[in-house]
Amino acid sequence: MKLIIDTDPGVDDAMAIFYAAAAPDIELIGLTTIFGNVTTEMATRNALRLVEAAGLEDVPVAQGAQKPLVLPPFPPSADVHGAEGFGDIPAATPKGQPLDEDAADFLIRMAHAHKGELVVCPIGPLTNIAEALQRDPKFADNVKAIVIMGGSLEEGGNITPFAEANIYHDPHAADIVLQAGEKVTLVGLDVTHRILCTPTDFDAMAAQSPELGGMLRDMSHFYIAFYKRMRDFAGCSLHDPAAVIACTDPQHFVRQKVALRVSCDGEDIGATLPDPDSGRAPVQVCMKVDSATVKAQFLKRLALLP
Ligand code: BDR
Ligand code: CA
Repeated sequence: MKLIIDTDPGVDDAMAIFYAAAAPDIELIGLTTIFGNVTTEMATRNALRLVEAAGLEDVPVAQGAQKPLVLPPFPPSADVHGAEGFGDIPAATPKGQPLDEDAADFLIRMAHAHKGELVVCPIGPLTNIAEALQRDPKFADNVKAIVIMGGSLEEGGNITPFAEANIYHDPHAADIVLQAGEKVTLVGLDVTHRILCTPTDFDAMAAQSPELGGMLRDMSHFYIAFYKRMRDFAGCSLHDPAAVIACTDPQHFVRQKVALRVSCDGEDIGATLPDPDSGRAPVQVCMKVDSATVKAQFLKRLALLP
């Protein structure tokens, strides 16, 4: 499957990108970057660092929007992902550079070049995807699917009681993307909170994959400490890897078709809300997951890496 991951790396973004590097059924066409867990510049630096670590130097990285469509910029989520995005791991300067082209133009060009074949998997705020839809009215027709880590129907929020972080960080962009119809799938907290990876899982991963699995294990300490502190979880959710796995293995998820809007103001800003009378085309929302299978697939493929 031809895949572009739109990302704010981010500890679980790193897990998703290394998963894509390991998956024999994924051809990574590029990464596009966005603010969220970190600033957009840091996201670009971290994305370049991840492709270089994974031996994917030929995978292009296109830098995206610096701030939400309407709201002022948010500070990075340093309490969740660490000051530099990778938990306690210090910043490092990559060798490579991003493309001259920005993320939305790259997405538009690739969707046209791989018409009907390209899956776009946003695992950060949706600003770049909204810009691609706004700049090119054919963008939604050209892509095969847009599979988003974001939102929550029944699970409540993770950044506020109402909102999931990726939607919260640009609700106006999310509201545009959720009008793109049935090619859009949401892999949100209703399923990702069911998939937990524990310190024992990361230790086993690092034993089999000392270099890249070891890097994820080292990053995971800070991330898991956040989950313990905030939610009393015994591990971390595989949010972003779940979205990548939903691209290639939809059979592990149960979906509902729901017309949605995003609250763009008030106490519930960033909430994804059913809006059946809106006339909007329904999107697909993952409500159940075979979490044991998704987690086992994640760990099995990561073990293939050096
Ligand atoms: C999402 O927000 C970010 O913190 C994670 O990387 C993930 O994409 C989970 O709500
Ligand atoms: Ca992310």
